[in-house]
Amino acid sequence: MPQQDDAFRAPRGTNDLLPPTSWDWYEVTRLALDTFARAGYAPVETPTFEHTEVFERGVGEASEVVNKQMYTFTDLGGRSLTLRPEGTAPVMRAVLEHRLDKGALPVKLAYGSSMYRQERPQKGRYRQFFQLGVEAIGSDRPTLDAEVIEIGMRFLRSAGVAPRLLLNSIGHLDDSCRLGYLGSLVEYLKANESKLDKEDVGRIDSNPLRTFDSKQGGTLKVMESAPLITDHLCDDCKRHFERVRDLLDKLNVEYELEPRLVRGLDYYTRTAFEYVAGELGAQNAVGGGGRYDGLAEALGGDPLPGIGFALGLDRILLARSHEGGSRAPIDVYVVALGEAAVEAALVLASQIRTAGLGADMDHAGRGMKGQMKDADRSGARFAAIIGDEELASNEVTLRDLASGEQERIPMESLIARVRP
Ligand code: HAM
Repeated sequence: MPQQDDAFRAPRGTNDLLPPTSWDWYEVTRLALDTFARAGYAPVETPTFEHTEVFERGVGEASEVVNKQMYTFTDLGGRSLTLRPEGTAPVMRAVLEHRLDKGALPVKLAYGSSMYRQERPQKGRYRQFFQLGVEAIGSDRPTLDAEVIEIGMRFLRSAGVAPRLLLNSIGHLDDSCRLGYLGSLVEYLKANESKLDKEDVGRIDSNPLRTFDSKQGGTLKVMESAPLITDHLCDDCKRHFERVRDLLDKLNVEYELEPRLVRGLDYYTRTAFEYVAGELGAQNAVGGGGRYDGLAEALGGDPLPGIGFALGLDRILLARSHEGGSRAPIDVYVVALGEAAVEAALVLASQIRTAGLGADMDHAGRGMKGQMKDADRSGARFAAIIGDEELASNEVTLRDLASGEQERIPMESLIARVRP
């Protein structure tokens, strides 16, 4: 085969989602949106691209996602647009733009959408990937934190992932809370500057919290004794965090306190959490989230608290204990023997689908043997065979593909007979 030109391959870090894996993708997405809907989260889909400022102001210019990983381009009108690297800032932008915050609160929204980050691709880390997420906007009550965290956990379990939950509170941006803490952290980092990795020295002033995410040996060692945010929370944030933990206990959601969990996006306040799955190796975060009580203001709105999470669908599919093995939900494969029967088969397949069941048939001119083989491949439970005799008497021969048993039945009784 001739070498395929690179221009005609999917770009680096992107994936073609093809069957049978695409069935798992579809099934897990549906399971997620159903699970979220049963807790009152309505579907939302924002544009694939936004004005670049939405992310610069929302996610924060000091964050790695914004300053290193965005796909930003100028359109023909000279505007700077960016493919969304995440969903929270766009959803908040949409809530404010359409004044959803003036209705009943909290506004609860859920999405299953593609995101774009120019990262170095590796297993579980792609440049186009999918997130399943929820955002609950307009309440700062700890019950909402607990609801959101529990829903994510329950969904992951039902999708076949057994994650650990890491939990922290990073306080709110106030002198009495995180700002005060950042002062002590910066002081500590400066005192230990010579032992830090070079890249992390640069972060001391721009984004000191990120030093907790460093993978460099020197920095890691220094961070072991660094002051922790949880020792510097103000009374309100402390109370909020205690209540969230209490409610998680009531919900039997197990968690591990991780005082060094800071998350990579700048909008987080108070509760921060991550779901991690051991099977995934380096990219072990299957999802993460937290509160973002200052995000609405960063986007020019009135104060409006919120909390949410996003789960990496690509990573969920890698971490699932069971392969879905799903395929098209075909109940009946209609086998047509002879030209006249083909038309009857087309009509019958349509009637089966109209009744809410799955049906497929041959479109390649196969003979009896070929069609039976295709029926097996389709996963159908039954083959409904139409030949000249059946046509004349308005009947079908119904074969149970598992047992091989077959019987001749009136065409009209087929649907009732095969309905599970
Ligand atoms: P995040 O931690 O940046 O948070 O991403 C959430 C999840 O998306 C990660 O845990 C991971 O599973 C998946 N993910 C991130 N980057 C990639 C990638 N390059 N390839 C594959 N999967 C990836 C957020 O995006 C926040 N918006 C979550 C949130 C919602 N916080 C509050 N509400």
